[in-house]
Amino acid sequence: VSLNVHMDRKKTISDKLVGVFFEDLNYAADGGLYAELIQNRDFEYSSKDRREWNSTTNWINKNGKLIIETAQPVSKNNPHYAVLQSGDEIVNNGFDGIAVTAGEKYDLSLFARSVNKGSLSVVLTDSNGNKISNEITIAANAANWKQYKAVLIANTSFKHARLSVTAKKNETAVDLISLFPQKTFKNRKNGLRADLAQAIADIKPRFMRFPGGCLAHGNGLDNIYQWKNSIGKLEERKPDFNLWGYHQTMGLGYYEYFQFCEDIGAEPLPVLAAGVPCQNSSHHHQTGIAGQQGGIPLNEMDAYIQDILDLIEWANADKSTTWGKLRAAAGHPAPFNLKYIGIGNEDLISEVFKERFAMIYKAIKAKYPDMIVIGTVGPFYEGSDYSFGWDFASAMGVPMVDEHYYVPPAWLINNQDYYDKYDRTKPKVYLGEYAAHVRGRPNNMETALAEALYLCSVERNGDVVEMTSYAPLLAKEGHTQWNPDMIYFNNSELKPTPGYEVQKMFGNNAGEEYIESSVTVDHGNADVQKRIATSIVKDVKTGDLIIKLVNLLPVEATVDFKDLQLGNYQIEKTVLQGNPDDKNSKPVVTKEAVQNNKLLLPKYSFTVLRIKMK
Ligand code: AHR
Repeated sequence: VSLNVHMDRKKTISDKLVGVFFEDLNYAADGGLYAELIQNRDFEYSSKDRREWNSTTNWINKNGKLIIETAQPVSKNNPHYAVLQSGDEIVNNGFDGIAVTAGEKYDLSLFARSVNKGSLSVVLTDSNGNKISNEITIAANAANWKQYKAVLIANTSFKHARLSVTAKKNETAVDLISLFPQKTFKNRKNGLRADLAQAIADIKPRFMRFPGGCLAHGNGLDNIYQWKNSIGKLEERKPDFNLWGYHQTMGLGYYEYFQFCEDIGAEPLPVLAAGVPCQNSSHHHQTGIAGQQGGIPLNEMDAYIQDILDLIEWANADKSTTWGKLRAAAGHPAPFNLKYIGIGNEDLISEVFKERFAMIYKAIKAKYPDMIVIGTVGPFYEGSDYSFGWDFASAMGVPMVDEHYYVPPAWLINNQDYYDKYDRTKPKVYLGEYAAHVRGRPNNMETALAEALYLCSVERNGDVVEMTSYAPLLAKEGHTQWNPDMIYFNNSELKPTPGYEVQKMFGNNAGEEYIESSVTVDHGNADVQKRIATSIVKDVKTGDLIIKLVNLLPVEATVDFKDLQLGNYQIEKTVLQGNPDDKNSKPVVTKEAVQNNKLLLPKYSFTVLRIKMK
């Protein structure tokens, strides 16, 4: 293989090419990234979440029936609470058990109310009811709702612990029973699971799109994700059903998303519904659940648009403003510096959609002309014509559009010229969701290398493709509605995939300058040629030259760097290699010199060379 490089032919490319897309599906938020350990902490589970669920789901009262009342709630947004009689012991099993570590501290918080001065005892137990932490007593002596806090320290490590709350005397009402590890990501309160958050941070994503996907536009008008329901005091946030078949506490809400973005140096990219729910149709196209027809009634659009404008004020304005004040009061006086906002997700480009999108777009542009609004070009099916989306966005002058494709590796291999052919007068592209799919839908070396190959072509077109994000990001074992995903996990382990390693290699080896290059194979036809790819970029900050090389062939290949003399440089080499079916391949990093100006690319491999030019 010969590598042809034209050091003098370069162009500026996007510095935001690799980001992440966080959607609350596969238990990505509650039971996942959100570090809360108690499931159904607020007794708000309902049959809307899942047919067999109700307020008592995941709780048992060892003393008999668990009484749920709604007469005097903590907040109207959280109408249900439990009422314990003296002697009642309620037990919560967490999300498939609570994984605790010996010596670690856990922040307990609960709301209680007792007319006759109750007393509660709280402890962690193993699955047989044996105590495995200190036991704390809460004098629930307030007749009105009051929040109580304490710290539990586990004295043994156990993956399936439970939380037990016992009423020692007198009737006591309880609600929002919460338990967090003290060690969260960056030790934030109401924070994120440290290991999962770190794995995302390690990609070095330049932006994060959230909270969906389908979740953002919801199944039916009432299920559209309302950002205002996701901020403020936990007890006042408004939970909702999750169209992927479970429950959203909203504990991981907009404040937490923005804070996380800031903590990992990623631009926040919230996506809001374009005034239409999922597919704007009678059923949700992924889950098959029946939904509502149509969009938000036109006479309600002003209020909906105001909510979107308020989000921008909440994120960016100072504390003299109504919404900026709320952000400051929540702990973030400085603006979050929101630059991008997504409107719509894979919506059908119907008249209903267009009318509402145009209203929202014009209103944002009028008030915040610098905000980059990212539109949507509708769902992609191979062979489908989704040019309406592009035509509409172009006609409206939308600066960037979000497109999605979930395709077989062969599609990625055969369409490496997809953006080479792109009409540069059209809106910029955010490839907001993509992944390679094979039978059985694993995330393996075959899919990962096809993605790496394709990403080389995306880098080459980094002047029009501004951003990309693999999808979906997270999936909890036993609660996975969609495969493949980038990072699988359970309560105590992470299982990053080869696709994750590819994202990390691209994220950690980004550059802002693209240097024209190509590879030519010495033996083989066009099919062979298509399975070898390269991309060369320069990291302008460090001056490093970064060469990416993908070999999707079942044989090794030798690259001849030809005019590029690499012999004298210090080089860091990262190689991800494995057979197509491998699911556990990990990259290997070495520091080495290039011998004879040639390099061996192992079969089925992705190599990154980072060359210190100074
Ligand atoms: O990533 C899973 C789903 O795929 C997203 O929610 C949706 O946007 C797409 O259809």
